[in-house]
Amino acid sequence: MTSDRELLGRSPDELDTPYLCLDLDVMDANIRAMAGACKQNNVAWRPHAKGHKNSAIAQAQVAAGAIGATCAKLGEAEVLAAGGVRDLLIANMIVGPHKVRRLVELRKIADPVVAVDHVDQVEPISRAMQDAGLQCRMIIEVDIGLARVGTLPGEPTLALAREIAKRAGVELAGIMGYEGHLLTLQDLDEKQKKIHAALDVLVETKRQFEAAGLPCPIVSCAGSGSYQISITHPGITEVQAGGAIFMDAFYKHKCNVPGLEYALTIPTTIVSRPAPDRAIIDAGRKTLNIEVATPLVMGRDDVRIRSLSAEHGTLDLDPSAQNLKIGDRLRLIPGYEDLTVALHDKFYCFRNNKLVEVRSIEARGFVR
Ligand SMILES: Cc1ncc(COP(=O)(O)O)c(C=O)c1O
Repeated sequence: MTSDRELLGRSPDELDTPYLCLDLDVMDANIRAMAGACKQNNVAWRPHAKGHKNSAIAQAQVAAGAIGATCAKLGEAEVLAAGGVRDLLIANMIVGPHKVRRLVELRKIADPVVAVDHVDQVEPISRAMQDAGLQCRMIIEVDIGLARVGTLPGEPTLALAREIAKRAGVELAGIMGYEGHLLTLQDLDEKQKKIHAALDVLVETKRQFEAAGLPCPIVSCAGSGSYQISITHPGITEVQAGGAIFMDAFYKHKCNVPGLEYALTIPTTIVSRPAPDRAIIDAGRKTLNIEVATPLVMGRDDVRIRSLSAEHGTLDLDPSAQNLKIGDRLRLIPGYEDLTVALHDKFYCFRNNKLVEVRSIEARGFVR
């Protein structure tokens, strides 16, 4: 088997399929565009790393102006901290003695902010940090309509803030909310109105904190499907949008995110041609995710993914595509980058169409 090293310098078509093909030039342009949009609106950028799970990409984002990173799992935060990123929002609840012990260790090398929505998450962390002579920042996740985790706005959030403020070992850093239920609204006017209304709830909560003498330096929100609207909302201090550095069919066509290009693709090979209007490719559900949005075939409106089984992909071919034959290659655009990257071990990274680096998806499988 050819080693990754031997592949350096080759073009995307010279590598065996399927694999994750990352165009670093396009990704860098997306990073610059996202960082620039945040800067223009005086909002900090804390990009979510759950999609790329790679410390070098997080560092590239910091170099472009990001203040740190957002993580969905403690394991992701540990990887990024080991790679030198300090300011890490863990936008998830840390529960149980194993994780609390790891959080204490993480605090020794980084400055995490941990999301909470109940005093039962606060208490063990407060005790463990005190025992270690440390202090850890906490952010309250407020439910702004997503109906996932989160305190109810108003008095329940203030009550939890008081619980944090009175404890040692923890420091109240602010509030976050995720408007993830509004990303796919197709009417732009309605999408804008509903996102601003959801964020009003968050900013009003900050006002209540200040009126009660509670600190609230961070007001954090937004994902790739909403950040272009959320960064314009007064009172928001930072956004968590991350996955759009890769772009995908979900962000582009379901969330209608303009101005960013496809950096991540999956080259694939036609392995069977059982019928004139049907081709089978070597990429199925173990290569691509299809739940959130159907992957697309790059540059071809006349070829569509009909279905995926574990290791086969079935394509519908229009008459203009029926000259495709066994051995031909196509480039797929992920339906949803996050759940696609999580299936792979490595990014094959290209510049000017030449392989320059093979990067490990370091936190892949780190679900704890
Ligand atoms: C808390 C939180 N913030 C932000 C995001 C958005 O992430 P991305 O920009 O990678 O889509 C998500 C996505 O699920 C999330 O759960």
